[in-house]
Amino acid sequence: MEYTELCKTADEARKQSYCIYSHFAVGAALLTKDGRVYTGCNIENASYPAGICAERTAFCKAVSDGEREFSAIAISGGPVGEAPDDAFPCGVCRQFMNEFVDKDSFEVIIVHADLSYTTYRFSELLPYSFGTKNLKIEP
Ligand code: THU
Repeated sequence: MEYTELCKTADEARKQSYCIYSHFAVGAALLTKDGRVYTGCNIENASYPAGICAERTAFCKAVSDGEREFSAIAISGGPVGEAPDDAFPCGVCRQFMNEFVDKDSFEVIIVHADLSYTTYRFSELLPYSFGTKNLKIEP
């Protein structure tokens, strides 16, 4: 899928956001290496830390379906009812994604207000990461 289309899919996924506490709606669209797309949104909870971000929702859906090879994720986030506003993945999501992506090829696509986008290599967003290599484990 083209990145423009992936951004639109992430922005659509934003509409499913359950964010009654922050009123900050995030949508994600995760592209697998063989072209499948898994969406996710943030899902908040009255016990605040129990909420989950859009990116991890998308990864959980994909990984639980057996997917292990990913090429990119588009992220669209901003206040409910407003255009997306350059929402970057939080630190927890970066660490979560690190488990499943090739840091030199996986791309993080940040959706701008007009649905144009900027692409970042994962290694730019999480340099010096801790992962399977440190534990000398082959995933
Ligand atoms: N959020 C995401 O879904 N992804 C991020 O990477 C940043 C933050 C959500 C969590 C919470 O529901 C809301 O945005 C405000 O922090």
